[in-house]
Amino acid sequence: MKELQFQRHRRLRSSHSMRALVRETYLHKEDLIYPIFVVEGENIKNEVPSMPGVFHISLDYLQAEMQEVTDLGIKSVIVFGVPAEKDELGTSAYHDHGIVQKAVAQIKQSFPELVVIADTCLCQYTSHGHCGIVEEGQVLNDPTLNLLAQTAVSQAKAGADIIAPSNMMDGFVAAIRQGLDESGFEHIPIMSYAVKYASAFYGPFRDAAHSSPQFGDRKTYQMDPANRMEALREAESDIMEGADFLIVKPALSYLDIIRDVKNNFNVPMVAYNVSGEYSMIKAAAQNGWINEQEIVMEMLTSMKRAGVDLILTYHAKDVARWLSDQK
Ligand code: PBG
Repeated sequence: MKELQFQRHRRLRSSHSMRALVRETYLHKEDLIYPIFVVEGENIKNEVPSMPGVFHISLDYLQAEMQEVTDLGIKSVIVFGVPAEKDELGTSAYHDHGIVQKAVAQIKQSFPELVVIADTCLCQYTSHGHCGIVEEGQVLNDPTLNLLAQTAVSQAKAGADIIAPSNMMDGFVAAIRQGLDESGFEHIPIMSYAVKYASAFYGPFRDAAHSSPQFGDRKTYQMDPANRMEALREAESDIMEGADFLIVKPALSYLDIIRDVKNNFNVPMVAYNVSGEYSMIKAAAQNGWINEQEIVMEMLTSMKRAGVDLILTYHAKDVARWLSDQK
């Protein structure tokens, strides 16, 4: 009788050290981008109810927060503003003394080595909560582009190292690139939210940033979660327009898209591990239903395995701590 043939895969799993030798994907502190929410006012450090561990902070808490972040070995933060005033045109987004502009300037003064990314969008700043100019119930594309370029330039003036436009208007990367170049910021890279889906996973962020649309939804500008080929078209146009990094957002339900984009383009890629992904883990962990550390590390590792270089995540501080503890 013929002998049964099989492969012994377990040889390479026999010990901790053996597994480390053959491990294909590693998570590093350098991969992490930590999001912060800054608010006007003083002495404010309020936990966002739907995002345990995430806080709104006023500028007087920035120093301590950034000290903690840099001490943990995190190299980059992305700044989201929660302005005191909103209006139809989102003017506080591109004001030289807007909350993001002030926060960025302050961070760069004390932590020049930290890479500070400015989120460039209008939805937190508009009274209607949409990411562009609204007329007769429509979100207008082309008239919005100029406001985005103005926002990006004011953020670069404040000292932002990277501009991250997230509003999904067509042509936003081209408009911002041109605006930056004309103002002497040709050296500032653009990290485009190139592939951004109209996702229910953003729910907790909208509580955190007070940015829910007051009517309708974002489906005329953010992508349909059912679409895959469209992601390649979005990525391609942003690269043609001058994007230096591409973000895929959300991350967890879109690992296939990350891999597709990775296989087709050769710029650094970022996964946005969004608020809903974070809150689900936190809620389950608080109930004692899952092992938070193991699940978070597994999730972030899967994003790197899918093809990203960087991960924007609310878990960043915890992950940096866990990585330090690891032997
Ligand atoms: C808006 C913006 C959103 C997020 C970041 N910037 C989502 C949206 O409301 O469309 C979501 C981030 C998250 O859920 O963590 N421009």
